[in-house]
Amino acid sequence: MTQRTITGSAVSASSSAAGEFAVIGASGKTGQRVVQRLRAAGHNVLALSRSSSTAFDWHHPATWPDALQGVQSLYITYQPDLAVAQAEADIRQLVRTAEDCGVEHLVLLSGRGEDGAQRAEQVLISSNLQWNVVRASWFAQNFSESFMAEGIISGELCLPAGAVQEPFVDTDDIANVVVAALTQPTLRNRVFEVTGPQLLTFADCVAEIAQQTGRTIHYRTVPADLWLAALAQQQVPADIRDLLQELFTQVLDGRNSQLTNGIQQALGRQPTSFAEYVSKTLKAGLWPVDERQTAAPASA
Ligand SMILES: NC(=O)c1ccc[n+]([C@@H]2O[C@H](COP(=O)([O-])OP(=O)(O)OC[C@H]3O[C@@H](n4cnc5c(N)ncnc54)[C@H](OP(=O)(O)O)[C@@H]3O)[C@@H](O)[C@H]2O)c1
Repeated sequence: MTQRTITGSAVSASSSAAGEFAVIGASGKTGQRVVQRLRAAGHNVLALSRSSSTAFDWHHPATWPDALQGVQSLYITYQPDLAVAQAEADIRQLVRTAEDCGVEHLVLLSGRGEDGAQRAEQVLISSNLQWNVVRASWFAQNFSESFMAEGIISGELCLPAGAVQEPFVDTDDIANVVVAALTQPTLRNRVFEVTGPQLLTFADCVAEIAQQTGRTIHYRTVPADLWLAALAQQQVPADIRDLLQELFTQVLDGRNSQLTNGIQQALGRQPTSFAEYVSKTLKAGLWPVDERQTAAPASA
């Protein structure tokens, strides 16, 4: 059986769990893009989540050592969010497991303006391993691949967010930064704080999507307590409602209404604009389109 040595620990290269890179949350919004880019570049990538063939479950630490054997560099996306109370302890235990398994380098997806996320970042930064933090603003893809997609498709998005501006970032850009951090040793031990290139309100974003799809889509600001009560009626679990309450009433208070240059630092180019994100999402067929409003006029 072939053996390879990673940071002093001999592991089996033929083990089903062995990977040069591993991605936790490999089917998620950034994870799937990171896996796809690494594989396209010819790297060996172990895709991890609760449903992967090598299972990794944040709620079952017994699954972690098998998943990390033979891994050199690990991309970590935490569930449901680093803002939850359990996150710091989980990240601490994951770092210890990674050290025991001989992992060399960790890249953590973090969120801006969250105390819990900053505590989790510090666990990596003060570990014995090489690290990167990719600290991201709200994803543009929340409008197409997550909880806001339903409102966009139905024609009315209701959220407890008024005039606050957010620099929505494209997850394709985040994935490119993560891949750069994973594959370029000169970028190690740095925080990349990544945002889009413009500050936009939620209503601005909905207006851009409406304009490009040719559809009428309303944005309505609703009081947080009514919104949370509606989520409870829809059987959304209490811990997820608490998390959404923190995100909408604390994190979205304007503290993140500034642009940063993490994408320029890592990739040497400007971030993707929200309008470009909308255009490619339309081409991918993720939203309905009113052809009558978007079709070019027939030439005479
Ligand atoms: N969304 C944003 O705007 C935003 C902004 C900044 C930072 N973040 C951070 O990004 C991270 C990902 O958040 P997201 O909401 O965007 O999700 P996401 O990346 O779309 O995550 C879903 C992925 O996590 C896996 N997963 C779910 N529960 C799991 C568990 N218990 N154990 C292991 N894997 C699990 C899912 O696969 P399976 O179902 O197969 O397990 C799937 O691969 C969070 O830590 C969040 O704080 C998000």
